[in-house]
Amino acid sequence: MTAAPASFEPSPALLEVRDLHVEFRTRDGVARAVNGVTYSVAEGETLAVLGESGSGKSVTAQAVMGILDMPPGRITGGEILFQGRDLLKLKEDERREVRGREMAMIFQDALSSLNPVLSVGEQLGEMFVVHRGMSRKDARNKAVELMDRVRIPAARERVGQYPHQFSGGMRQRIMIAMALALEPALIIADEPTTALDVTVQAQVMDLLAELQRELAMGLILITHDLGVVADVADRIAVMYAGRIVETAPVHDIYKAPAHPYTKGLLESIPRLDQKGQELYAIKGLPPNLLHIPPGCAFHPRCPLGRDMCRTDEPPLYDVPDGRGSACHFWQEAHHG
Ligand SMILES: Nc1ncnc2c1ncn2[C@@H]1O[C@H](COP(=O)(O)OP(=O)(O)OP(=O)(O)O)[C@@H](O)[C@H]1O
Ligand SMILES: [Mg+2]
Repeated sequence: MTAAPASFEPSPALLEVRDLHVEFRTRDGVARAVNGVTYSVAEGETLAVLGESGSGKSVTAQAVMGILDMPPGRITGGEILFQGRDLLKLKEDERREVRGREMAMIFQDALSSLNPVLSVGEQLGEMFVVHRGMSRKDARNKAVELMDRVRIPAARERVGQYPHQFSGGMRQRIMIAMALALEPALIIADEPTTALDVTVQAQVMDLLAELQRELAMGLILITHDLGVVADVADRIAVMYAGRIVETAPVHDIYKAPAHPYTKGLLESIPRLDQKGQELYAIKGLPPNLLHIPPGCAFHPRCPLGRDMCRTDEPPLYDVPDGRGSACHFWQEAHHG
């Protein structure tokens, strides 16, 4: 191998979401769920997406996966570049192909994602039958291999069992196995451990992080758990009212957040004995997406809010070291 020349251009991001807008037509009006999200994920990188309930984390992920509920959802602007191609411009069959082979999603609730009347072996094997044209017998062996890989004990004996015969943690491992089956380039995990007991959460998360490293996949990890983020993520994107308000390498953000909202989130790290509790350190409530406040959407709750915050929507300002903050007064948040 030859050394990269000095002017070496980094390879384009695996995934680049640019200025994405998604809205939902509801009886009461238009809910602006995603309002110009821009983020990227490199090969082998883990991007953690944080933010309160309703900030648009899942909707953005669904748009990337191509599983958005349309209608009532509608993508009204932006680009989703995956391996250089804009997914929003693909035909439905091309899109399905990308979704099946190149990206996979892991949800919070395995029980409702897995088919209750098919054995886990059949469901895992199906991936290889459909996408790789394997025989049923070979596919079953592959299923056992995958179950071993996600460390389900006695895989060969359990391959014929049904989802309800597994514990919550084991079911989540099966979901991970399904997602990994075709070795996709990108995995989106939406609160993958939220429904599990605390001890099991850590095991499942460690497993996911380990496999992600092994396979050098890009991972978008949506989570409320800042403890998990610190352990496994490379970078963080913090969402508020359908926008990214701060993005930074993970350790930098813990040391010195550059947005008052991030600061509030970090100060409200839930303790282990308060599992499942919402984050309360930030006063007030997230905005109504039918009536997002003008200017900076966070200003009604912001300790730094000034006049201009009520009128001028902040761009994502450059913060040194490859970071970004959508706060007019980020320097104050950062150094104050
Ligand atoms: N199917 C839908 N129909 C109508 N509105 C929707 C639909 N899905 C999402 N929304 C709107 O989009 C907003 C953002 O939803 P999203 O699921 O992305 O939030 P989230 O950040 O993932 O929150 P949580 O942490 O609770 O999962 C919701 O508050 C809701 O107003
Ligand atoms: Mg969600």
